[in-house]
Amino acid sequence: MRLKDKVAIITGGGGGMGRVAAQLFATAGAKIVVAEFSDAAGAETVDLVRQAGGEATFVKVDVSREADAKAMVDHALATYGRLDVLYNNAGIMPEADHSVIDTDVDTWDKVMAVNVRGVFLGCKYAIPAMAAGGSGSIINIASFVALLGCSVPQDAYTASKGALLALTRSLAVQFGPKGIRTNAICPGPVETPLLMDWLVKDEAAKQLRLARNPTGRFGKPEEIVYMAMYLASDESRWTNGAQLVVDGGISVNYF
Ligand SMILES: NC(=O)c1ccc[n+]([C@@H]2O[C@H](COP(=O)([O-])OP(=O)(O)OC[C@H]3O[C@@H](n4cnc5c(N)ncnc54)[C@H](O)[C@@H]3O)[C@@H](O)[C@H]2O)c1
Repeated sequence: MRLKDKVAIITGGGGGMGRVAAQLFATAGAKIVVAEFSDAAGAETVDLVRQAGGEATFVKVDVSREADAKAMVDHALATYGRLDVLYNNAGIMPEADHSVIDTDVDTWDKVMAVNVRGVFLGCKYAIPAMAAGGSGSIINIASFVALLGCSVPQDAYTASKGALLALTRSLAVQFGPKGIRTNAICPGPVETPLLMDWLVKDEAAKQLRLARNPTGRFGKPEEIVYMAMYLASDESRWTNGAQLVVDGGISVNYF
């Protein structure tokens, strides 16, 4: 099995791509810590994994809170005795996030707290645990919007994801010598509640995004998770500091 006995924390594991990651990682043999804000959603993911014969546990976490980030790593160590993978998946994209000229400070701060501080705090506590075991893989979920300008802006979200790419490079260089690899995935638009809840209300915005993608469709959660599975596995042992774009080609489309 590709991830046999690897212990993986998946933040935001209660929904969207995080839930699919929990399911697919468990099927590949990993032990999953579902680190999720919503009790009901986190518990449901654990049930789904267990029903399929996998191993998972839930810890309630708001990734933006330092005490929760520490508790998340402590929970992984107490339950499974080690930590191999930190999958920094939790992220938010509020409707109130627009251009810098019309975004309020609270929205900006909230996005930065979850999307950037959350990753900082997860890494802060996971890296020493991984170093104690001699190896680890950190997977940061950024976005294709960190690589492109967009005339329909979500500037807080875009800046937050750009910050993750810079942080990924810094961690890769610092902790690569300790056997801890850090990589980022830049997904294109994927069919999850995060995107669909928003686009379902705006058909024009949906068609605009579909028209730009050479594949003519949105991604499916598993199409991002398969890349994460590679990064979690030992197959990627020489992949460090990369930003891997999985977007159907939207970011290379000039016309
Ligand atoms: N869906 C897309 O099109 C898309 C594209 C590029 C990048 N991404 C990124 O992929 C990641 C996952 O996105 P998704 O579409 O699956 O999202 P989603 O909204 O469907 O699921 C996110 C999960 O994270 C949880 N969560 C939110 N805030 C949290 C917090 N503070 N602490 C702990 N858990 C929290 C939610 O409860 C939810 O279960 C995000 O980082 C997102 O920015 C998504």
